[in-house]
Order: sequence, then structure tokens, then C-alpha cells
Amino acid sequence: MSNVNLEKIKREEFLKKPNFTKTDVKKTLDKIVKIVDHMMLKFHGDVFPRACSKNYVYDTVGNLEWDESNNESIWTTSFWTGILWLMYEYTGDEKYKKEAQLHSESFRTRIDNYYHKNEQEAGLNHHDIGFLYSITTVADYKLTGSKKALETSLMAAKLLSKRYIDTAKILQAWGDMSDPEQRGRMIIDCNLNIPLLYFANQFMPDDTYYQMAYNHAKTASKYIIRPDASTFHTFHMDTETGEPRFGSTHQGYSDDSCWARGQAWGIMGFPISYRYTKDKEFLEKAKCLANYFLNRLPKDFICNWDLIFLGDEDQRDTSAAAVAAIGLLELINQMPKTDKDREIYENACLYITQSLCEKYLGENNEGILKSGVYFYHGNLGINEYLIFGDYFFVELLMRLYKNWNSYW
Ligand code: GLY
Repeated sequence: MSNVNLEKIKREEFLKKPNFTKTDVKKTLDKIVKIVDHMMLKFHGDVFPRACSKNYVYDTVGNLEWDESNNESIWTTSFWTGILWLMYEYTGDEKYKKEAQLHSESFRTRIDNYYHKNEQEAGLNHHDIGFLYSITTVADYKLTGSKKALETSLMAAKLLSKRYIDTAKILQAWGDMSDPEQRGRMIIDCNLNIPLLYFANQFMPDDTYYQMAYNHAKTASKYIIRPDASTFHTFHMDTETGEPRFGSTHQGYSDDSCWARGQAWGIMGFPISYRYTKDKEFLEKAKCLANYFLNRLPKDFICNWDLIFLGDEDQRDTSAAAVAAIGLLELINQMPKTDKDREIYENACLYITQSLCEKYLGENNEGILKSGVYFYHGNLGINEYLIFGDYFFVELLMRLYKNWNSYW
């Protein structure tokens, strides 16, 4: 048994199914096709949406463009590509595939630039290489069998593996590996970066990448999750001794609060690690995280940006809601068929999805999911479209629409 608290789920609604069917999912996906087609008029070739909109309109950024003022966009260009792959899967229309494959070329150029031009300008000195390549070149390989996309994905995994610190058994999140400020800092978001290593390991002669991903997930599970099943956003390890130091936040309300999207990265990420490793600890912990999350939802089932806020009038973060709902589906897929909690998680996922479809779908054709929060204290992307919120909402709908083969 895990030493983390498993709260009993309090919302009575989760005991019964909402009135929300696959037809409703399809209706929303059809509306999203129209939004994406409109967005494609502005975003094509090397022109991508930025991480977050301003007044619900995305500005543009290039995948190969280094822009100090918008350094956050370096981890988010892939989400637009991911949306195009999902649209290709949903509609079968080759125009999405054609555009997404152009992006595969661009993501390859980023790696080539890292090696042959300027490391800094390639924007790959961070662990978000997993977010960048899983839903671009890995998706390309899985959907089209492209050998070049596979090769690029393996090059990306190699870059990511350089961030592994064996003493601490973590992948360092940010900054140069010798930067004392960042040295030994892991963040919960990395749960979605390590699938690139699990994936790449299948093509390797030994299990080095698998061990890195597995060890990182174990260390995160041990230190990032608090005994009450809330999570730290980030955790600092001593890289000389491998001992834990302290938890802190970057995007949450405070060091001891629970940033909603961080919790969601955990709810989605730990079951993915279970899928690859079959280590039951990941499932047990994910359930603890899920119950903590589900017990702190306002009336409309969409979490506030930090779970310290419980009010109906507080600021929602729909991106966290979409990621957590996907996590519930991952959990259900991995849990034994006899587990009675499966139905509760399925109902909860459907209530969240219904609310996202009915209250938060974009209305101006410029983005997909309203009311996201990127970085509250940084005054960045508050109550706006977030390109990753858009992506995960579409992934959530695709998972409910069909038996979707994960890019992660
Ligand atoms: N991975 C960064 C974020 O969730 O905002």
C-alpha cells in the first residue's frame, strides 16, 4: 500500500452517468474542425500559434525562431502540430497530414540546428523535448510509418537523455546542467516528457532510456507527491548525495499549495508510466492524486488554476481540467476490470468533458478552449486560450470518440 492518503470521493454526482453521449463528443469535434480550418488560414508552414492568446487571439511564432521575449513558446509549438494530427485522424483529410509532415521537417531542423548551428537558438535546452517530439514526429511515425520521423524522434530522445542525473535519478527540468540555480530540479510536468524515452527505448539495444524514465518517475512519485496526495510543482534534489532537498512552486499559488495543472500532469503521467512499466505504485498514487483533485472541483466540475481555490467565482484553468480528464481515462484503461472505482472515474471524466464542451468551447474561431491559465503570478495567459489546453481538449475528445492509439 502507498503511504499517500486516498481520499474518499465526495461528489455524489459521480455515482451516476451524466446525460452526455458519443454524439455530443462528435458534435463538438465537428465544431473544432471548423475552428482549426479557420486557424489554418493564419497558422501554416513555419507560422505557429504562441503559447497563449491575448484577448482570445493567438499571435504568431516561428518554430525556428529564437525569441528571448517569448521564451515560453519554445516548448509549445508542437501542440499545434498535435492538433493537426488529431484532425487528420478524425477527418481522414490529407491536408492536415501534409501540414503536420511539414512540421516534422521543421522539428528535425531544430535538432540539426542544435548540433550544427547554435544550441541556444535551437531552444532545446530543457526537458520539454518530450512535449515537443511525442506529438509531432512520434505521432508522424505512428500514423504514417515515416522512417525519418522515427529517426528524428530517436535523436530527440538522445537529447532528452542528456538531462539525466544518475546520483539523484531525475531528469533536470530547466536550464544549463551546470547552472547551480537549476541543478537537480525536477518538475511534475516531466511525467509527460518521459514517454519519449519509453518510446525510444523500444528501438535501442539496451534499456538505458527505459531506466532513466522509470527512475525519474519513481523519484517524482516519492518526493513530488505529498502525504495528503497533493503535489509540489517542482522539487530540488542534492545531486552530490542524491538526497531530497525541498519542494517549491513556479506556476502555482505558493510553495505549499497545489497547482492544478501540476496535479493533472501527475494524474495523466503516472498511469502512462504504469502502461510502460507495470509498476503498480504508479496506479495507486495516480488514484490518490485523482481523488484529491476531484474533491476540489467547483460546481461546474472545472478546476480552478490552483486547488487552494475552491470557489465557483474563482479563475478556472480548463487546460488542467482536460489533462486530468485524460488521466482518468488512462487510469480506467489500466485498472483491473473488477475495480469498482472505474465507473466513478468514467462518470467524473464525462462530467468534466460535458462542462468543457458546453461552457468553454471557443466562440470566435481563433482558438478551441477558453478560460485557461498559463502562469498566474507571471501575469501571462490568464483567462485565455492556451495552445496546450486546446491540444489536450481535442485529445480528450478523440479518446472518447474512438479507440485512440496514444502518441505518448
Ligand atoms: N509545462 C508547463 C506548463 O504546464 O505550463
